[in-house]
Amino acid sequence: MSVLADPSAAGILHRAALRAIRAPSIHNTQPWRFVLTGDALEIHADRNRRLDVLDPRGRQLLISCGCALLHARIAIEAAGRKPLLLRFPDGRGSDVVASLWVGSPQRYPDSVTLETAIDDRRTNRRAFAAEPVPTSLISELQRVAAAEGTVLHHIEKPEQRAVIIRLNAQADRIERADPAYLEEIHCWTTDDLRRPDGVQAASVPYVGPDAEQATDQTAGLVIRGFDVRGMGWLPAANSTESTECLLLLCTRQDDPLDWLRAGEALERVWLTLTAHGYWASPLTQLIEVRSTHEQLRTELHLTDHPELLLRVGRAPYVEPTRRRAPADVIVERN
Ligand SMILES: Cc1cc2nc3c(=O)[nH]c(=O)nc-3n(C[C@H](O)[C@H](O)[C@H](O)COP(=O)(O)O)c2cc1C
Repeated sequence: MSVLADPSAAGILHRAALRAIRAPSIHNTQPWRFVLTGDALEIHADRNRRLDVLDPRGRQLLISCGCALLHARIAIEAAGRKPLLLRFPDGRGSDVVASLWVGSPQRYPDSVTLETAIDDRRTNRRAFAAEPVPTSLISELQRVAAAEGTVLHHIEKPEQRAVIIRLNAQADRIERADPAYLEEIHCWTTDDLRRPDGVQAASVPYVGPDAEQATDQTAGLVIRGFDVRGMGWLPAANSTESTECLLLLCTRQDDPLDWLRAGEALERVWLTLTAHGYWASPLTQLIEVRSTHEQLRTELHLTDHPELLLRVGRAPYVEPTRRRAPADVIVERN
């Protein structure tokens, strides 16, 4: 692989690591470390931050690392340079998920817009307005997902939406019946505004003590119940509008490389819709519970592998969430 001898490369890679830190991750666990080696940036998975109950295979951990990788790629592109990239340079079992170098000058027309969208993107768990997302935007999102080696299904038919709503509620009930799952959620949610990781009370809807009853009576899509302390700041919304735009991101295989690619695709889709003024929030319960995952594939006749469901729409603003400090996640190894 040819890398230009270039004194500006180190600065571009450092900035790429800073932009990668802003990526979304499951429960805001930020399961990554960035190693700068002079002419390369390595992205390492930090398996100490894996969610053992919810994500024992580390699938969502690698999707999260894929989101960070996409941010780093966009930052290099926005600097007007070609990102040179090896995924899993030491093999798929390794914690080094990618190595990046700065290549030759090149123009990437969307890169500055997408780079700016990094700061505007959030998980917005409010109910979305009942206005349709334009089909031209959905087609664009499908195109960018395909360019990242994945498939983005638009869940349009009422019978498909009904399957998703039912399986999502079923997965939520199964997970909430497990004390270990609730304990894990408890560890990763917080109302401490100084905590640099975990899901903040400011970004989840109020649920309170009637969660069980509320979930069972709703006809819409249930949002994961993070509000285990009854301190959610957003308006109570136990389910979202049944008309919301739903997109299902799938991969062709079900292995670590596909999970990483799913994260890259997710983030390119998410930044693109952000740049168009839309919000999104992922829903993964029906995919992480084995029985609902299998039912989903069977009932929707999917030949590919579902990785993540995304709600897309318009809603009022939500605050950005915190990240760990660069000094805690960026290592320089010259
Ligand atoms: C792989 C993955 C799975 C996620 N699953 C859910 C989910 O099931 N429910 C949810 O409300 N948010 C989910 N999220 C959103 C994260 O909680 C969110 O990205 C994180 O708390 C950081 O917040 P931000 O996206 O606003 O920066 C998921 C994010 C990722 C990357």
